[in-house]
Amino acid sequence: MLAGKQILLGVSGGIAAYKSAELTRLLVKAGAQVRVVLTQGAAEFITPLTFQALSGHPVHQHLLDEQAEAGMGHIELAKWADLIIIAPASANLIARLAAGMADDLLTTLTLATEAPIALAPAMNQAMWKDPRTQRNVAYLASLGWQILGPASGAQACGDVGPGRMLEASDIFELLSRPVSEPLLAGKTLWITAGPTREALDPVRFISNHSSGKMGYALAAAAQAAGARVKLISGPVNLPCPPGVECIQVESAEQMLAASLDGIEACDIFIAAAAVADYRMAEVAAHKIKKTPGQQDLKLHLVQNPDIVATVAALPPDRRPFTVGFAAETQDVLTYAQDKLNRKRLDMIIANDVSAAGIGFNSDDNAVTLIRPQHHLTLARAPKALLAQQIIHHLAQAYYQHA
Ligand code: PMT
Repeated sequence: MLAGKQILLGVSGGIAAYKSAELTRLLVKAGAQVRVVLTQGAAEFITPLTFQALSGHPVHQHLLDEQAEAGMGHIELAKWADLIIIAPASANLIARLAAGMADDLLTTLTLATEAPIALAPAMNQAMWKDPRTQRNVAYLASLGWQILGPASGAQACGDVGPGRMLEASDIFELLSRPVSEPLLAGKTLWITAGPTREALDPVRFISNHSSGKMGYALAAAAQAAGARVKLISGPVNLPCPPGVECIQVESAEQMLAASLDGIEACDIFIAAAAVADYRMAEVAAHKIKKTPGQQDLKLHLVQNPDIVATVAALPPDRRPFTVGFAAETQDVLTYAQDKLNRKRLDMIIANDVSAAGIGFNSDDNAVTLIRPQHHLTLARAPKALLAQQIIHHLAQAYYQHA
């Protein structure tokens, strides 16, 4: 894959910069031509001479360098590259890349190139978990940038958690695969969305305020990430996202039947629907009449099947990677964690549906992704943007799990 490729290796400031020397050696050994760009911060950690010796070419450091521009100017360098790999990519560099800045040679090259770009983040675990970093990474991923890692473990600063740069051999291995392949290429993803309606009689029903916006945004983001997407939707006023197969249902029982029909083809199942927990024991055949003098009306309700728990309980050969949502109004994380365990899910996405402006029937949301031993909070954002971030993290969790 890499033999003969013209690879631009960008190195930013961080202790992991030493791993990039080994990455240069591996790329050159595989027959790639490597040119190295160091940011100002990178040069504090590792010398240009190291990369010059390993790549066999002078190292590029400055945007406005007369000598360098006379040799291979920055636009020429951007055009020369078949692939740009940035390792390590610090939180600061990622933020500048996401903002589209061109304030040094490396950021300028990424704007001027048409080559695919991969980056290997490296930073302190709290910086990695910060919602701003997560938003920036998800945005770059949504542009088709390949995000390699980070790994989790002991960090140079003494912390333990995600943020370690992948080893050079791991990056090399990942780069050896086709880089243009979208994140969920070849995967089948099913999503439930919207409310269910449980009929009381021919003209009335029990339902809730779900608009379907969250589930539809996830369907569009998953489709954009290369997945084959089936959206099983309760009644909403949204158009089916382009390229997505939409199945319309009304009740929880219909949603369950649609969710189980052919489930063995499904790799990832996301339950974003707000399913009514109860339905009428028997739907009245005719409109329930108001009886004169009758002040109250008793309805006999029975529990609906739990769709996501039914999917999660399928035997291993039919069970997809199963993700639920938890709509909570208090002790959000505790109740969500309980649902994750009780329903035996692989991941649960908790949202506080009591907070103003997010959750049910709003354009924004804010969520925490919970897996065993793993919490990640994504800050308030429009559902479309949040959906891209969720799909990015969910795909990572799926591949780690697979
Ligand atoms: O549709 P929007 O207006 O955009 O709003 C989005 C949302 C708030 C509906 C969405 O983000 C959300 O939280 N969806 C889940 C709502 C819900 O019913 O949560 P729950 O905590 O009651 O259920 C937990 C999980 O079990 C959910 O994945 C739910 O889909 C699933 N469930 C619940 C009951 C049931 N009978 N079957 C199920 O599959």
